[in-house]
Amino acid sequence: MSLATTVNGIAFENPFLLASGPPGTNGKVIAKSFDLGWGGMVIKTISLDASKVVNTAPRYGKLRSRESNEVLGFENIELISDRPFEIWLDELRQLKKNYPRHVLIASIMEEYRREAWHEIVRRTQETGVDAFELNLSCPHGLPERKMGMAMGEDPALVKEVTGWVKEVSTIPVWAKMTPNVGSVTASARAAIEAGADGISAINTILSVIGVDLKTLRPMPTVEGYAVPGGYSGQAVRPIALRQVMEIARAFPGASVSGMGGIETGADAAQFFLLGAHTVQICTGAMLRGYEIIAELKAELEKFLGDHKFGSVAEAVGRSLPYFTTHADLVLRQKKSKESRANRDAETWKGAIAKETDLLTS
Ligand SMILES: Cc1cc2nc3c(=O)[nH]c(=O)nc-3n(C[C@H](O)[C@H](O)[C@H](O)COP(=O)(O)O)c2cc1C
Repeated sequence: MSLATTVNGIAFENPFLLASGPPGTNGKVIAKSFDLGWGGMVIKTISLDASKVVNTAPRYGKLRSRESNEVLGFENIELISDRPFEIWLDELRQLKKNYPRHVLIASIMEEYRREAWHEIVRRTQETGVDAFELNLSCPHGLPERKMGMAMGEDPALVKEVTGWVKEVSTIPVWAKMTPNVGSVTASARAAIEAGADGISAINTILSVIGVDLKTLRPMPTVEGYAVPGGYSGQAVRPIALRQVMEIARAFPGASVSGMGGIETGADAAQFFLLGAHTVQICTGAMLRGYEIIAELKAELEKFLGDHKFGSVAEAVGRSLPYFTTHADLVLRQKKSKESRANRDAETWKGAIAKETDLLTS
């Protein structure tokens, strides 16, 4: 079965994308992922001035299962790409030349200045990339420059910045949401009102992965100190599913790229059923290897076949109608109890009538 799908006019060979992060760190690894069969790549977030981006080590932390030692949750304090913008432009140009039919999405982030957003959009789209993903959601590192989540948690800023991008963008624009807000739909609405073609969700969840009980220092510890980071991996999947569902229900006209804790085809299928048109994977590929794409495709094909869906698009949103209100759940349960009681009463009546017939005949 073909997993091909078209979203915002972009043809994807399959709906599996590597999410912005280490999997899209440079042209070489991106080319390798295209060779392996990923349907698309969202590059590590880029900005005009990479010299302001300074990473630390260590910058990752893991939450493991007590029984199996399997990694359930993953925290990072990694910033956006620290590689020069000009080098990125060359690599993007080269990638589009060598892989014209593979979908290449540029994740971009800038300071709160209209000219800066105009410049990054203009110069990046000249390389031939297929779409933009606006990183309005990185939870750590650059709030003092009002970048990332500092923008994405404020619907007024989301609207303004998305509007600036749409003023000059000639390709589709996805706005990537932060889950670290009370209502994800408020920022998504602002992006859509400003003309965003799609919404990506979720970025990482603000977290502290743990405290080292020997040194008493919070982790990941850099020279004895720490900052809260972004949580991802399997543990965040239920939260991601809920936010994707809320976005899909609220904005049926927008495309949704769902992510957060996807590691298998079955995980991905749940995102499609709750309204995602494509899915993205970051931590799962870091932990299990980029080769998982073969397994993901086979599992999704089997799921679609088992349910007689003719395409990915046919599965999108199929489980959304089964969300309702709590009051409605109570009413449904009451009705079903009543009809069971009525059925039981009918059965008894029938049995008594039969016995009476036997006795009187
Ligand atoms: C180490 C690491 C670095 C990341 N860097 C970025 C980034 O530069 N830009 C961005 O938009 N998201 C970034 N993310 C977030 C992921 O793209 C994704 O939204 C999040 O991790 C949830 O998906 P997952 O559970 O599949 O990892 C990063 C995630 C990790 C784990």
